[in-house]
Amino acid sequence: MMSVKADRLLRNARHVAYFRKRGHPGKARQLVNGLLHAEVTEYPMEYPLTTEIPHDDPRYIAQLSSFYQDWQSRLTQLTRSEDVIVLCEGDPFFYGSFMHLHARLSGRIPVEVVPGITGMSGAWTATDLPITWGDDVMTVVMATLPEAELARRIRETDALVVMKIGRNLPKLRRAVAAAGRMDAAWLVEHAAMPGQRVTMLAEAEAVTPYFSILLIHGQGRRP
Ligand SMILES: C[S@@+](CC[C@H](N)C(=O)[O-])C[C@H]1O[C@@H](n2cnc3c(N)ncnc32)[C@H](O)[C@@H]1O
Repeated sequence: MMSVKADRLLRNARHVAYFRKRGHPGKARQLVNGLLHAEVTEYPMEYPLTTEIPHDDPRYIAQLSSFYQDWQSRLTQLTRSEDVIVLCEGDPFFYGSFMHLHARLSGRIPVEVVPGITGMSGAWTATDLPITWGDDVMTVVMATLPEAELARRIRETDALVVMKIGRNLPKLRRAVAAAGRMDAAWLVEHAAMPGQRVTMLAEAEAVTPYFSILLIHGQGRRP
């Protein structure tokens, strides 16, 4: 899913960059198959690493920082003569990798961000139920948080969105159970993408793909 504006910009673009994991086609790139101009030049920005070392390890921070710095220089150079589109999944300013490039590019070259349709929006639509009613408070958390913190947030909110689940699924399952909300928790894999799958958390398998979101719908006031 993308906006009409993003579609128009993309179809006319001659230079398109996107992030991808080494040896993978890149989800953002796959999603625009068939939309790119015949004369487009592509710039796959390959992460030097993803989950090989912990995110707080100084080596991880150093390698990723130099990766973003390198692409900041290359894109700055390229945009002296050309417009470049950087593809993102969902909204670029919502937990997106593009933010790390944006922080390095903005102020040096003109950057326009086109808002996107977030994965969570695709996820609650896939359940065919509203996520918030009336005064419901919605909390968005990352499954990477400590278990006790997850359980507290899940207990205290009306509606819930959990992202970055992956290998944290067993911990998340325990936190949802501790908060007493297992019966209301839905798991959506590949929302609005080929292979979309919707299950109740209680019935979900032990492993979930990178593109997975857990939802608890608010039950707030309604007429
Ligand atoms: C780095 S964040 C990027 C979020 C993105 N910018 C957005 O607006 O949705 C990646 C996480 O978003 C969630 N996600 C994004 N798109 C999704 C989709 N279509 N289906 C399921 N989960 C998705 C997953 O939890 C994934 O681990």
